[in-house]
Amino acid sequence: MVAALNHFTEIDHCSREQLEDLINFAMEISSDPAPFENRRKGKMLVNLFYEPSTRTRVSFEVAAKRLGMHVINVTATGSSVEKGETLTDTFYTIQAMGPDCIVVRHPEEGNARKLAALAEPGIHVINAGDGIAAHPTQALLDAVTLRQHVGSFQKLRLVMAGDIRHSRVAHSVIALLKKLDVGEIRLAGPAQFMPGEAATAGTRIFDNLDSAIRGANAVMMLRIQKERITGLDIPGAEEYHREWGLTTRRLGLTEPGCHVLHPGPMNRGVEISSAVADSPQSLIRNQVRNGLYARMALLLTLMREEN
Ligand code: CP
Repeated sequence: MVAALNHFTEIDHCSREQLEDLINFAMEISSDPAPFENRRKGKMLVNLFYEPSTRTRVSFEVAAKRLGMHVINVTATGSSVEKGETLTDTFYTIQAMGPDCIVVRHPEEGNARKLAALAEPGIHVINAGDGIAAHPTQALLDAVTLRQHVGSFQKLRLVMAGDIRHSRVAHSVIALLKKLDVGEIRLAGPAQFMPGEAATAGTRIFDNLDSAIRGANAVMMLRIQKERITGLDIPGAEEYHREWGLTTRRLGLTEPGCHVLHPGPMNRGVEISSAVADSPQSLIRNQVRNGLYARMALLLTLMREEN
């Protein structure tokens, strides 16, 4: 029996079995969501977002509503955060109103984990992105998408390219795929956008995209996380696109039928051309759809003891 999950704040807090269960469950829901409608009727989810979001916030809301839950959205702007209330006091205030799940996005690393440690029994904390550290539900939906389209993780030869260093998506995807014994992970990007050894262990590093993507069967492009970068020269859009952008020519160097992913939001004409983003090989909208199923699977799993 796989151990119950209480919170979902970091991939490394989960066992391989727990992660495989979540991926399999999300795939089951994706094939026929109807039987799962209203399975958590009357439960409450609070989205507590200190940073902008389109995909993550909306898909948690849609996932929870498909399960019959009530959803409250709190953003830093327009809440008492603007009057100086701390994150901890904001969390305690929301917790006092008795939600079942609190989904947190925050610019500082480790804050979802800290809030999970403060949660009362029966309240589940989910990390929707903390600084550059982790975005575990994005990793989950990416794993579901790769499994659906590549077949098995052992067959996967994935290139992740761009600003790996400041990408919480990259850190969580690498952590998850390593747990699943994925075939090969290649990282490519300018030297200033490469993280340290701890984050790249078990991967192959490339200093140019043409070499990295030869023979790949999946490529995940990452935007430059300008909002998190200080003290580095950020290349101009045209120069960056020339050196590091995924174009139709570069896609031709991959294995035929290579899948293209991007966690979004995309910067078209910078890390990816519109022709590639909108090509039949692009799974970008599949990723968004799988975000809904992955989050439904996660909510059902976290609240499973309350069935
Ligand atoms: N992928 C992702 O986290 O997108 P949002 O910032 O729109 O939620």
